[in-house]
Amino acid sequence: MISVRKQTNFGIGYPTNEKKFWIIDCLSRYCHIFAPRKDIFLLKKQQTVYMAFPKSLSIPSLILSILLLTTTITNKVSAQDGKSLFSQNCASCHAINKKLVGPALAGVEDRWPDKAKLHSWIKNNAAFLKTGDPYANNLYNEYGKTAMNIFTQLSDKDIDAILGYVSTAAKASSAMPAAGAVDPNAAKGEESDNSLLFGILTLVLAVIALVLLQVNSNLKKLADVKEGIRSAEPVPFWKNKAYIAIVVVLLFISGGYMTTRGAISYGRTKNYQPVQPIYYSHKVHAGVNQINCQYCHIGVYQGKQATIPSVNICMNCHMAINEYKGAKIYNEENEEVNGTAEIKKLYKYAGFEEGKPWDATKAQPIEWVRIHNLPDHVYFNHAQHVKVGQVACQTCHGEIQKMGEVKQFAELSMGWCVNCHRETKVQFKDNGFYSIYEKYHADLKSGKIDSTRGVTVEMIGGTECQKCHY
Ligand code: HEC
Ligand code: HEC
Ligand code: HEC
Ligand code: HEC
Ligand code: HEC
Ligand code: HEC
Repeated sequence: MISVRKQTNFGIGYPTNEKKFWIIDCLSRYCHIFAPRKDIFLLKKQQTVYMAFPKSLSIPSLILSILLLTTTITNKVSAQDGKSLFSQNCASCHAINKKLVGPALAGVEDRWPDKAKLHSWIKNNAAFLKTGDPYANNLYNEYGKTAMNIFTQLSDKDIDAILGYVSTAAKASSAMPAAGAVDPNAAKGEESDNSLLFGILTLVLAVIALVLLQVNSNLKKLADVKEGIRSAEPVPFWKNKAYIAIVVVLLFISGGYMTTRGAISYGRTKNYQPVQPIYYSHKVHAGVNQINCQYCHIGVYQGKQATIPSVNICMNCHMAINEYKGAKIYNEENEEVNGTAEIKKLYKYAGFEEGKPWDATKAQPIEWVRIHNLPDHVYFNHAQHVKVGQVACQTCHGEIQKMGEVKQFAELSMGWCVNCHRETKVQFKDNGFYSIYEKYHADLKSGKIDSTRGVTVEMIGGTECQKCHY
């Protein structure tokens, strides 16, 4: 009894040479139930595979397919974001109102009254040119026979989203020529540190307590005098042994606390925000222009390192984008930054002279200052968190897409890692932990695991020392 169902997003994508190959191993143990070949599991995301399910598993697998379907649908919706698609595919050659390598795209739908033709041009311009369309061939000759890229991977919906973005952007720029400057202070949502406030409060309370103690002893003395009891000669408070003892103990505790904290956090760099060789703004790229994190940090879904982009990746777009015309940008000192001058700095590293063809072999690497840095004895893997664990970048790095200059958001202490593992539920939905899934599923049902807490990362071993330490 076998039912065949269409499935997507089955890949788990651990590189086989990674330390975590046992996950693939545990999958393959299960493969003879789910599918005849284990390499099906190693397929990349977004590929469609047809899989055979034994009927006996069909209820859990039905639930699974529904979950998988919803995740693919949400993926599709986010992929429709026209601006982001435009930035990633077209911005290297096209602008809205300016001629770059290709024509300005404002009003393109008026120039192409036949929508079907426009779609087939964008998908595969080489094939479209062969149909002999006079407009397209003229344009091609006018642009010195420069070939546009082929975009067969874009769906009609994607193309509609891009065209929709182009027309709204064209309307917006003709309606208000100057984009409003961004409030420089808005970006600096400094979280205030409350410890000073608490310190002052403690001091005030201590003083009040002392005063009350003094008042109390004075009243007692008065009462004694009234009743005719003679008290001992008063001792000034700085000679009072009780006071001295209290002060010494307090100093000892607070001093010890501060030294230990200092020693533990030695080498930690929360809020570290170095000045970089080029003022490169994530707000401009990932925020305003909605370029995907993965476009630059190419390793983040595949392996341990997220990787910092090379000059070549920057030049994909900046061969064409040679000036900055967006909203005003400011550095941490609140001085305005000249975006165009910063792009020229990039050209220096790239060895690129405008107007001349670029020889990529002349490029020098940019010496970006590394911000996040775990000690060598800790193993941290991005793919495991971003792809398998489905943790958003922002959970660990803060709202990068709103930062002018990157700042370390999390403490990167062991407590930070372990606490998250204690609290975060494992995302079983589509990450390939199926064999473990069965066991936990049974435990949840039988009440062995508290279903309100769910299965946390700790339960799958996420707080075992050797998982994080070499
Ligand atoms: C490698 C550079 C390049 C990229 C990338 C590129 N184009 Fe083009 N595009 C051109 C060139 C050059 C032309 C002019 C015709 C020619 O020479 O082929 C053109 C022409 C066009 C036209 C016709 C414009 C008109 O005025 O009629 C449209 C529409 C278009 N591109 C859309 C897109 C879209 C949408 C994308 C992204 C999905 C894109 N292009 C990506 C280079 C590019
Ligand atoms: C256009 C390319 C590009 C895009 C898109 C991009 N980044 Fe970056 N990112 C860089 C460059 C270049 C650096 C190094 C310079 C710096 O620290 O500002 C960097 C640095 C970082 C760092 C700090 C690295 C360190 O040194 O510790 C983090 C974290 C980061 N990016 C996260 C993100 C996230 C999250 C996104 C998506 C919201 C994103 N980036 C999108 C290019 C990009
Ligand atoms: C996918 C396209 C793309 C890539 C890749 C890209 N940029 Fe940009 N860049 C843009 C766009 C779009 C703008 C904004 C232009 C405008 O608004 O006029 C911009 C603006 C800039 C600016 C001026 C604003 C600012 O942030 O200071 C600098 C500098 C810059 N980019 C450097 C880089 C560097 C360095 C890299 C490589 C790490 C890079 N860019 C990669 C598209 C890209
Ligand atoms: C679970 C927390 C977590 C998540 C989620 C996360 N990161 Fe990181 N990231 C870290 C830690 C920890 C480091 C320091 C790694 C080291 O020093 O080995 C780091 C380092 C980096 C670096 C610089 C060093 C490197 O690995 O190349 C970049 C760039 C980066 N992250 C980008 C991203 C992007 C982009 C995403 C989302 C797609 C993301 N991170 C998601 C925790 C996280
Ligand atoms: C925001 C929450 C979060 C933070 C912070 C975090 N992790 Fe994780 N981590 C997860 C999740 C979720 C998983 C489960 C991924 C999966 O399903 O395999 C995980 C899994 C792991 C695993 C694999 C555990 C196993 O049993 O397979 C290791 C190793 C790991 N994390 C290391 C670290 C280290 C080192 C840090 C700190 C530098 C860290 N993590 C910080 C959420 C987090
Ligand atoms: C989820 C990941 C994770 C787990 C599990 C974990 N650690 Fe850590 N550990 C870290 C990180 C990250 C640091 C670095 C913290 C820092 O730089 O302040 C660290 C630091 C340490 C240090 C300090 C070393 C130094 O040179 O400062 C010791 C000791 C340590 N861990 C022991 C353990 C022991 C013992 C266990 C098991 C009970 C354990 N760790 C489990 C992530 C983890």
